[in-house]
Amino acid sequence: MPFPQLRQARSYEAAQGAALSPEQRPLFHLTPTAGWLNDPNGFSVYRGEYHLFYQYHPYCTAWGPMHWGHCKSKDLLHWERLPAALAPDQPYDQDGCFSGSAAETPDGRHVLMYTGVQKDAGQEYQTQCIAIGDGINYEKHRNNPVITGDQLPSGSCTHDFRDPKLWREGARWFAAAGSRTEDGSGAILLYTSFDLEHWTLEGMLDRSRNQWGRMWECPDFFQLDGQAVLLVSPQELVPPDPRFQSGYESLCLLGSWDRETNQFTRRSVLPIDQGLDFYAPQTLLAPDGRRIIVAWMQNWSTAKCVPEGQTWFGQMTLPRELHLQDGRLIQRPIRELERWRGECTAYEGLAVSGDAAFPGISGRTLDLTLRLQVQSGTFTLKFAQDEHHFTALLFQPDHNLLTLDRARSALPNGQVPRRSVPVRARKGQLDLRLILDRFSVEVFVNGGEQVLSATLYTPQEADRISFCAQGQTLMDIQQYRLAPSLYPDRRR
Ligand code: FRU
Repeated sequence: MPFPQLRQARSYEAAQGAALSPEQRPLFHLTPTAGWLNDPNGFSVYRGEYHLFYQYHPYCTAWGPMHWGHCKSKDLLHWERLPAALAPDQPYDQDGCFSGSAAETPDGRHVLMYTGVQKDAGQEYQTQCIAIGDGINYEKHRNNPVITGDQLPSGSCTHDFRDPKLWREGARWFAAAGSRTEDGSGAILLYTSFDLEHWTLEGMLDRSRNQWGRMWECPDFFQLDGQAVLLVSPQELVPPDPRFQSGYESLCLLGSWDRETNQFTRRSVLPIDQGLDFYAPQTLLAPDGRRIIVAWMQNWSTAKCVPEGQTWFGQMTLPRELHLQDGRLIQRPIRELERWRGECTAYEGLAVSGDAAFPGISGRTLDLTLRLQVQSGTFTLKFAQDEHHFTALLFQPDHNLLTLDRARSALPNGQVPRRSVPVRARKGQLDLRLILDRFSVEVFVNGGEQVLSATLYTPQEADRISFCAQGQTLMDIQQYRLAPSLYPDRRR
């Protein structure tokens, strides 16, 4: 029988969630059942279905005492809403059930590992906790917390110790958690256990040394195409070069992992998403071997920008398939999305000079591919456009720069209006794939070697798309309207 806090959250979200019509939400990006959503949590496969939990404050559109919201899917696009899984209802998590992860146990149970937050006499303690369940109801372990501040390296801070990522290899459980070392900057600690209850600190996988931001949040650690990948989300990053932005920016650390010594050796640091809204990613390994990433399509610097009248806030990115190629992180929309492709409008060899628009190219739920060859000058794509608004992608081949600009996108106060990033463009050629879903755009550059994601605030009626070439651009366009596939199970 759930404790009163969880019962209350469940009945509240059931009533509020039902009051929202599907048109008020994105078509296929996950939003909270009610209220506020931040980090993805517990992204896992359990009994053959994908489960995704999230940091959740159901009672309003602002961050508050953290619960875990919950949903599941067979295809990562149709999400079935399930009742909230965790509420802050125990002394060790009374101030929040912070981020964490999930895995299936060999005997068929679903284990959640999360951070319990407790404030006591002006001090905050973050500890790691376990809850075990059946895919709907979860029981917190009677011996929680299972990892406390006593198991931190000396000098580490007990109130910045969070977001365990759990996985299993052979008979052993592993957990990587974010922490802050004696120099005040982030580190990722590695723990192991045979029973989920007793944990041993194995060491530090990597640390910031004040070079890659301060606190490191939300780690993930996995093998991808022969390399070890450590994802971290630093706070207060002061970027070393224009590939990164200052503040909150998730990083991909590439290297190797020595399983004997548990030592991770970092070789390079890559951006993950160079748009305006992306943080705290988490991955899973799909049954067919794909490594799939999902993130909060928002950012703490934009987290107060709730459009007036909107009763939900925060959404997940589209799940993306990950690869490494020539030292780069490649992300592509999950292939399941192709089944949602409906009516197609395509043009080849269009010569654009000045302003242009093309019949049939418009909409807010689209899979749009552009192959550009800028012969002279610059090229701008405008979308989510009406008389007053648009969001733009500006390509300047002379500087090999791509700018995502939403200064005219009906921004609530405080939003970062634009970001420019260097791209690899050969002789003015650039491939762009845009996924538009009512309240967001995700731009995949050159087959996914770079991605830029941003939330949109423009009215839904603003659905025009236009082009502007200062100089001359040759372009191929292919546009698919996206609509739910009737056969989500077909390929499984
Ligand atoms: C990252 C984060 C996590 C924490 C959670 C709290 O966005 O700050 O470190 O667990 O959000 O909601």
